Amino acid sequence: MTILVTGGAGFIGSNFVLDWLRGCDEPVVNLDKLTYAGNLANLQSLQGDARHVFVQGDICDRGLVETLLTTHRPRAIVHFAAESHVDRSIHGPGEFMRTNVEGTFTLLEAARAYWSGLEGGAKGGFRFHHVSTDEVYGSLGPADAPFSETNAYAPNSPYSASKAASDHLVRAWHHTYGLPVTTSNCSNNYGPFHFPEKLIPLMIANALAGKALPIYGDGLQVRDWLYVTDHCSAIRAVLERGRVGEVYNVGGWNEMPNIEIVRALIRLLDELAPSAEGSYARLITYVTDRPGHDRRYAIDARKIERELGWRPAETFETGIRKTVAWYLANQEWVRNVQSGAYREWLDKNYAQRA
Ligand code: NAD
Ligand code: DAU
Repeated sequence: MTILVTGGAGFIGSNFVLDWLRGCDEPVVNLDKLTYAGNLANLQSLQGDARHVFVQGDICDRGLVETLLTTHRPRAIVHFAAESHVDRSIHGPGEFMRTNVEGTFTLLEAARAYWSGLEGGAKGGFRFHHVSTDEVYGSLGPADAPFSETNAYAPNSPYSASKAASDHLVRAWHHTYGLPVTTSNCSNNYGPFHFPEKLIPLMIANALAGKALPIYGDGLQVRDWLYVTDHCSAIRAVLERGRVGEVYNVGGWNEMPNIEIVRALIRLLDELAPSAEGSYARLITYVTDRPGHDRRYAIDARKIERELGWRPAETFETGIRKTVAWYLANQEWVRNVQSGAYREWLDKNYAQRA
């Protein structure tokens, strides 16, 4: 038995692969293009481990995906690969359409051809799990109920629109062709190996470098934060016990405004890595807001708890402490991803913000 993971060198994908192989010996074939967000250093601890087969390649390459399927004959595909950063999707949406929409389409078609040729238990047991986001549901008002699986789709950014499109493709491939799919829509993750373009790792990296901590708009936008290994355990639960064709929302029951997240990071950094110049709070800088910025996301995760018995293991307090400690212990990892391309991105995204 083998599973095929796409995007397994990125933030969540690499945590998933590491977690998977910590928990069992079922091999993982890991297909990743190694874009700026993919990083083999995340998987360094698996070097020489025969259970992990890494393949650098594009999910849009149908021939490659077909070859991987017929060679390794996986019992499941877990599809993480995507362009994932909202701000990048605003500056350049094209790659989001290609990977997130066309790439998912290509995978679905290759999976359908492979699955159609399976027989008996192998066919019945096959799963295509699609990893998606809560952003497909749009933005909540302060008094709205959290997103449930029956909320209408209302994506607002090029990123969330591309993920919504991919969710619809997955749904259609099940309804039309019977492909045994499951989908999870998860809230904001944080933890080790998070690329420092996203709020939490960016704030940690900037604070330690004595740079401004850029808060978009009024900083009162709300996100529902989940420690990454809890997302991984939710995906495993869906893969093992989820009902075919169903969607499961995954979240941390942990809504927090951005400014509170930044203040929590500052408290931990002041404690664990104090600066000679005083509290990192001095670096907080309000900057021009993200265009079309969604005000609030919150997940109603009762379905996955009721049906599959899943709940997050970490609280925000335990998860964020582990995260800050990981970044402090892995400064070299951070330095290695802060390439010229990363600095160009920072210039592009932040230089124009007043
Ligand atoms: P990430 O940007 O850190 O990693 C994406 C990975 O996909 C990288 O390793 C990259 O090299 C790879 N990739 C990109 N294009 C590819 C292509 N064409 N072919 C093959 N590989 C390709 O993303 P992440 O934060 O780990 O997110 C993983 C998945 O989870 C995404 O589908 C995202 O939409 C979803 N998600 C993320 C969050 C979050 O908070 N980060 C929350 C909910 C859902
Ligand atoms: O909700 C799930 C989504 O969470 C995932 O689908 C996405 O892949 C993931 O990137 C994340 O999207 P967000 O846009 O919520 O995450 P980001 O870390 O970019 O921003 C979190 C919040 O912080 C958001 O309200 C914007 C704000 N922000 C972000 C950055 C990078 C700032 O105020 N300043 C910043 O510099």
